[in-house]
Amino acid sequence: MSFIQTNFYNKIDPSPLQVIRHPQLSTANITVSIKRDDLLHPDISGNKWRKLKYNILEAKKRNIKHLISFGGAFSNHIHALSAAGYHFNFATTGIIRGETHYASNPTLSQAQRWGMKLQFVDRKTYREKESSDYLHRLKAQYPDAYIIPEGGSNHLAIPGVEEVVTELLQQSTKPIDHIFTATGSAGTLSGLISGALKLTNKTQVHGIAVLKNAHYLTEVLTNFVPKFNDLNWHLHTEFHGGGYGKVSAELAHFCHQFTQETQIPIEPIYTGKMLYALWQLIDQGYFSPGSHIVAIHTGGLQGLAGLKQQKKI
Ligand SMILES: Cc1ncc(COP(=O)(O)O)c(C=O)c1O
Repeated sequence: MSFIQTNFYNKIDPSPLQVIRHPQLSTANITVSIKRDDLLHPDISGNKWRKLKYNILEAKKRNIKHLISFGGAFSNHIHALSAAGYHFNFATTGIIRGETHYASNPTLSQAQRWGMKLQFVDRKTYREKESSDYLHRLKAQYPDAYIIPEGGSNHLAIPGVEEVVTELLQQSTKPIDHIFTATGSAGTLSGLISGALKLTNKTQVHGIAVLKNAHYLTEVLTNFVPKFNDLNWHLHTEFHGGGYGKVSAELAHFCHQFTQETQIPIEPIYTGKMLYALWQLIDQGYFSPGSHIVAIHTGGLQGLAGLKQQKKI
């Protein structure tokens, strides 16, 4: 049964919270639990589901039948949006940065199998995707569509991500001192900061920026979480490892070892980069002994096939 035939928004169970065993953690006397959002659903996993959920409900409420969004040629968001279209009966259009030959890569092949129409645009046009002029033209071209920004990060993404924290509140038997997430467009970090209002004030929320020069994201956070100054959060901008999509030999090695030691699959663009940074912080003595850290596994495993194809891993 496809999950649109069920009461889908109540049918996706909370993802498990898994305490991990790792030699370095025992030595440092640190507990790390992984919130396994990669296990939420086989096709729409991780923060993608969290960010899309209320957008999909909004589109259904408005009786809109067509979803449009933007992404790179290996985008997890585009992949998830096409799956959402398939499972929830929407037509989908992906506006893709780059050349048409990407249409046959693993991410976009699957997106098309799920019924997504692709529209390739050059990099200059893609950069305009948030300008009112461009959006105006897009709305004129598709008057009945619901347009979701790149990465799915808009105001309706926030309540979906807040639910991660609600689940943590029910699942964790130990107080949570720190929550870590990988940060791209900062929708996920914003939702977690906002959700952390529900936890004790002591919990600090951390974003590991996967892009270079990510300081500008603070402004994005202000937009999504008006009271964010009152909260306890930190954006780490020094762990981008050369920039978005860059996979050093050390990072690839860390991801491989991590999976061997924990049996948890990760990819190096988001969750792997975040965990690599977290492990370095633990090494540097950043956390007090006895701390409990929750790291969010934001999914993205569909990207592994594309990374292999590009020989990045
Ligand atoms: C797997 C994965 N993790 C983390 C992120 C970062 O999330 P955000 O863009 O909300 O900062 C993304 C991008 O959306 C992603 O695809």
